[in-house]
Amino acid sequence: MNNFINISDLSKNDLRSIIDSAKKRKSERGKKPHSEPDADQPLKGKTMIMIFEKTSTRTRISFDLAVKQLGGSSIILNQDEIHYGKGDETIKDTAKVLSQYANILMIRTDSHNNVEEFKKYLDIPIINGLTNHGHPCQVMSDILTFEELKGDIKNKTIAWIGDGNNVSNSFIEAATKFEFKLKIASPKKYHPDADVIKIAKKNKCELLITEDPYKAASNADCIMTDKWISMSDKGDKKKKKKILKKYQVNNNIMQAAKPDAIFMHCLPASREEEVTSEVMDGKQSVVWLQAFNRIHAQKSIIEWCMK
Ligand code: CP
Ligand code: NVA
Repeated sequence: MNNFINISDLSKNDLRSIIDSAKKRKSERGKKPHSEPDADQPLKGKTMIMIFEKTSTRTRISFDLAVKQLGGSSIILNQDEIHYGKGDETIKDTAKVLSQYANILMIRTDSHNNVEEFKKYLDIPIINGLTNHGHPCQVMSDILTFEELKGDIKNKTIAWIGDGNNVSNSFIEAATKFEFKLKIASPKKYHPDADVIKIAKKNKCELLITEDPYKAASNADCIMTDKWISMSDKGDKKKKKKILKKYQVNNNIMQAAKPDAIFMHCLPASREEEVTSEVMDGKQSVVWLQAFNRIHAQKSIIEWCMK
């Protein structure tokens, strides 16, 4: 059994095999209806429990469909419906109980430590469905989407423009493993986690951190951004938005990238803040395919965890 908590925990080979098997399973499935299982049903008779301490549209639905397509069943729990979420049962005791009811756990939580703590006491695999520190499932499915449209991501250039947040942390980890170039433009105050940057540089990741959005966008194969205010953000939101204003992804930024560059956003988006509607609804935008591919990448992540 394997846990999927940080991209940096996995070997290059395992990460590549997850992407390649997602491509294979997606193409073999063809146009089957969303809830119909794949022929081999590798998760038949098995259950995934999902705990959401934070809101979610895509992760919740795409994991549910992923489990169904693998032939298994899922139970979705919100924070206020369970003792652990309400604070009257420990992670240790919850983990011991869940291990007897299910075959795999997915959790979305504010505290990355909670995921690590669950891992200590679970007898079943755990998947990180977003923490304050990372969003590895999103990044794996974005790599799947990128490669579907633009081929091997190795040596390609991805530009991240805006807040240095959980998703950008996972992208930095992915850049080291998948060997793509990553240029991040954000104000100094909102750079991604210093530890993540330090490890990437030690591992010879081709990473540029700049305060200039045009320098990051220049010659990129893909422009990415995310909300300026993440679910776990606690500071002065108005002030943060003001500082990030010059990092909006608009047509000027898109024009600095390669003419055939794609635009990606993990969603949900705050239109006219981090991205204009013109870009989000424009010809270069692939945001809807990104959301769809969450199903396919996560099927592959689940299968890898169950090995
Ligand atoms: N991108 C993403 O994880 O979306 P949700 O918050 O809707 O799950
Ligand atoms: N950075 C965002 C991603 C949402 C999918 C957040 O953490 O809220």
